[in-house]
Amino acid sequence: MATEEEIAKVIESTDMVELVSPYVKLLKQGKNYKGLCPFHNEDTPSFVVSQEKHVAHCFGCGKGGNPINFLMQIKHISFNEALAELAQKNGISLNVKLPNSQKQDYTKYYELMQLATKFYQQNLTQTQSGKNALNYLYERGLDDKLIKEFQIGLAPSGLDQLYKVLKDANYLELDMLDLGLIGKNDRGYYDIFSKRIMFPIWDEKGHVIGFSGRIFDNPDKNLPKYVNTKETFLYHKGNILYHFAQAQPEILRKKRFILHEGQMDVIAANKAGFNESICTMGTALTLDQALFLKKYASEAIICYDGDKAGITASLKAIKIFRQTGINVHLVLLPDGMDPDEYIKKNGKEAYVTYFEEHIIDDVEYQFETLFLNVNLSDESVVEQVKRKAFDILRQISSQTAKDKFLNLLAKRLAVKLDSLIIDYNNYYTAYPKEDYVEESFLTDNFPNDVDNVAKNIKNDLFKRDYELRLFLYARSSKELALDIDSKIFEYMNAFSKINRQIWITLINNYYTQYETFDDKTFCSLLTEEQRQVYLDNLESLRGSTVVYDDNDLANIIKKMHEDTLKYENKQLSSQIDELADSAAKVAKISKKFQNRKQIMDVRRNK
Ligand code: CTP
Ligand code: MN
Repeated sequence: MATEEEIAKVIESTDMVELVSPYVKLLKQGKNYKGLCPFHNEDTPSFVVSQEKHVAHCFGCGKGGNPINFLMQIKHISFNEALAELAQKNGISLNVKLPNSQKQDYTKYYELMQLATKFYQQNLTQTQSGKNALNYLYERGLDDKLIKEFQIGLAPSGLDQLYKVLKDANYLELDMLDLGLIGKNDRGYYDIFSKRIMFPIWDEKGHVIGFSGRIFDNPDKNLPKYVNTKETFLYHKGNILYHFAQAQPEILRKKRFILHEGQMDVIAANKAGFNESICTMGTALTLDQALFLKKYASEAIICYDGDKAGITASLKAIKIFRQTGINVHLVLLPDGMDPDEYIKKNGKEAYVTYFEEHIIDDVEYQFETLFLNVNLSDESVVEQVKRKAFDILRQISSQTAKDKFLNLLAKRLAVKLDSLIIDYNNYYTAYPKEDYVEESFLTDNFPNDVDNVAKNIKNDLFKRDYELRLFLYARSSKELALDIDSKIFEYMNAFSKINRQIWITLINNYYTQYETFDDKTFCSLLTEEQRQVYLDNLESLRGSTVVYDDNDLANIIKKMHEDTLKYENKQLSSQIDELADSAAKVAKISKKFQNRKQIMDVRRNK
């Protein structure tokens, strides 16, 4: 741990106004500065910053504190991370080993990627061959300011120009290969990206971790529009939220983010002033991403393309956000357009107006999509729409939202509300929730995959049951048990407390003494309460044959990971709330965490 003195030194050397400014627009008021609190919604400023005292405090919600507290809360990082960041910023070297330094230090890789970014940028703006690409970008409505802000560049047409630049800077071939920038064949090293407009992709802290390269003047229609960095140890396509680091202050300010489909849309939206715009890399939104975003905002606005694919993806994203409790709103653009196209066609002012006036909630959106391309004069179509509407209704838990939905539906279908309610109740009884698998509403062209709602229902059953299955697997052999343990131990929070205790006894106590499994001996190691639960577990699985299956284990681990994240998220946010204003308390907790980690490590090495 850092000493009291070191902590005090870091606090005293931090300029509070400079630290807070990216997140809050501050106005000087006497000795202090004032602004709108970044931690809660307010119209009159109650967030006060004192440069002299090195504190920022909200008199409305009580959040804030010294520079370390502020950074922890605004960036959702640990005490040690905040301390390290501020120490580094102020050129203070801490005489301690921070837990972070045990993690891999990626600095050199970030620097390598930064150099590549710079090389591409210079190649776009300062060479003759960059002219075409620049013109393409201007043609698409970007200006120099946006190009700079998004660090857009150009990969040259040469074979190995980037390679040479990196080599000259003394970077290792191994690293360039690992980062997905160059490849190797029998003739030597070559650049992966060639003749493409290069969009750097940042992680959530703003480090460049990969690139997305767009084709621009190649007549070959067979080439893909975008080529992205392959999966590397830094770049995991499915996890990326493009532009999040830059959008974060605005997301915190507005408590909302706008989720787009592609990076050109994010850039166009920024041009129109929506700096809270982000997107995934052409991949479907995941629960992990939604949980991550929930730490920063209470509201999501989905603004995907207005075409069929965009609508289908929107409906899926709605369900993911709902699982996290984020408020979901959407904007459906006309004529199947994406934001980039809309702005190109109608200008940014028109876009802002359209956007703000067409924000609808998730239920309205689902409702509207029911009526796209349907002919209501056909009686069977009406029945179909009704059924789909009922399917949506059962995902809504709020009664007032249900009422609103039914009212709208009755109007639109021109039927009596009373009859509609009777139909709904009949439908609900005829198709109980457990049996229900929602149909994809756009049937043609789109994969008929099992809907997320149905998945959730299954998942709940699955969760109750996965603990039990793991026990059955673990009973079958010591080797398998230890293997499973090494894979699930970091997700053990997904287990119920008592099953967790039983599991630990099995691994750390039973299998350290015995090679084969025997229920009676195992039970003798359990407390009365644990034994009861364990036997109940076995009983509830009697008759079902459980044969070990790699796939099943992989699914279980995935689910446990998700459940742990959910659990940890809850823990984290309540912890942050509780501990916000006391650095000392937080330091204690972090020490505890350290100790626990050591215990885990000892356990793992056993
Ligand atoms: N994408 C991809 N590979 C492709 C096509 C798309 O990785 N072959 C990803 C890109 O991240 C892209 C996103 O999916 O930004 C959305 O794709 P699309 O809607 O086709 O691209 P646009 O954003 O409309 O791109 P543009 O306007 O440049 O055509
Ligand atoms: Mn587009």
